[in-house]
Amino acid sequence: MEAIRFNNNIIRREEILNMDTGSLRQRLPAINDFFSSFGLTAPEDGTTISHFLLELDAEILNDIGMEREAINEVFLDFIEGMLEIQKTSGFKLVELTIIGGRNKDGKSEELNLELRPSQIICLVGHTGSGKSRLLADIEWMARGDTPTGRRILINGDIPPSSWRHSHEHRLVAQLTQNMNFVMDVAVDEFVRLHAESRLVQNVEAKTNQILLKANDLAGEPFAPDTPVTSLSGGQSRALMIADIALLSASPIVLIDEIENAGIDRKRALELLIDEEKIVLIATHDPILALMGEKRLILRNGGVHKIINTTPVERRNLSKIEELDKNFLGLRNRIRNGELIDFEIGL
Ligand SMILES: Nc1ncnc2c1ncn2[C@@H]1O[C@H](COP(=O)(O)OP(=O)(O)OP(=O)(O)O)[C@@H](O)[C@H]1O
Ligand SMILES: [Mg+2]
Repeated sequence: MEAIRFNNNIIRREEILNMDTGSLRQRLPAINDFFSSFGLTAPEDGTTISHFLLELDAEILNDIGMEREAINEVFLDFIEGMLEIQKTSGFKLVELTIIGGRNKDGKSEELNLELRPSQIICLVGHTGSGKSRLLADIEWMARGDTPTGRRILINGDIPPSSWRHSHEHRLVAQLTQNMNFVMDVAVDEFVRLHAESRLVQNVEAKTNQILLKANDLAGEPFAPDTPVTSLSGGQSRALMIADIALLSASPIVLIDEIENAGIDRKRALELLIDEEKIVLIATHDPILALMGEKRLILRNGGVHKIINTTPVERRNLSKIEELDKNFLGLRNRIRNGELIDFEIGL
């Protein structure tokens, strides 16, 4: 029988399922994230998790694609992981290690890459070469159990598998190519809920700060009462960037394709970069690629080469940025309905 420590008592793991959800939530606000990651609304105070799961009808279970007992187990793993995180709230990320697996042909990938906070690493390579896959391996804390066979170590160790199930687990914040909002609430409510779950002191002020920053990044501003599902791709990107930058304590930030979102990517990146964080960016954009200190060249599903950004490349970066500014000017003229009917100087 597995025992865990909860509020200074040693209890059987399963007993968690029969505790009042209210008191559980008080101790671990992140349980709401657990349910929302399955598209469910968390049980109300005064009911128990086991009761809630018993009441879930077969259709919902079918949608989730899991048996009732399996959800029980995953939930308990999640609780155990969250307690572990709380216990080690002095946890500090020192090192993230990526150990190579195999490429799409099954050839072994020679890779043992140690990354440290304040590093920016870019992933480049043709479309389909495996950039998003590598980010997903990190997000999932792969243990040889993904199509690539890669393994991820945190501070030299295999991280507990329970970290995987937390929607908001503290280690990784991810900006993906497609944002999926599981709940349809207004933007301000979405940010407020998030701030509350992070136990922020002044929730209102933090919420306003995030909305201001998001609007500042987005081309077309949006009102606080806009439903999150009505935001455009670029606007939801801007919201997630502001949210991660100002609220998330995750020491690993994964960014997939910031450039397609129609937002000011350089400013967005500057917001996300932090001395304490490791930032990995999959990109097709030469400016972002050269902003990193290293770039991994992906080919055929494996890391083919690692390049350290050279001093000359760094110097060229400002020239490329100049070119880009001119190009952006043209893009904005098109967006504003103006003509490009003048002599273009290069
Ligand atoms: N080592 C691998 N073994 C098997 N499948 C792989 C491997 N690496 C990537 N894949 C698969 O190849 C497909 C394309 O990879 P991925 O989506 O990561 O490409 P990408 O570089 O992000 O492309 P894009 O630039 O278009 O976003 C995915 O289905 C991915 O799961
Ligand atoms: Mg991709």
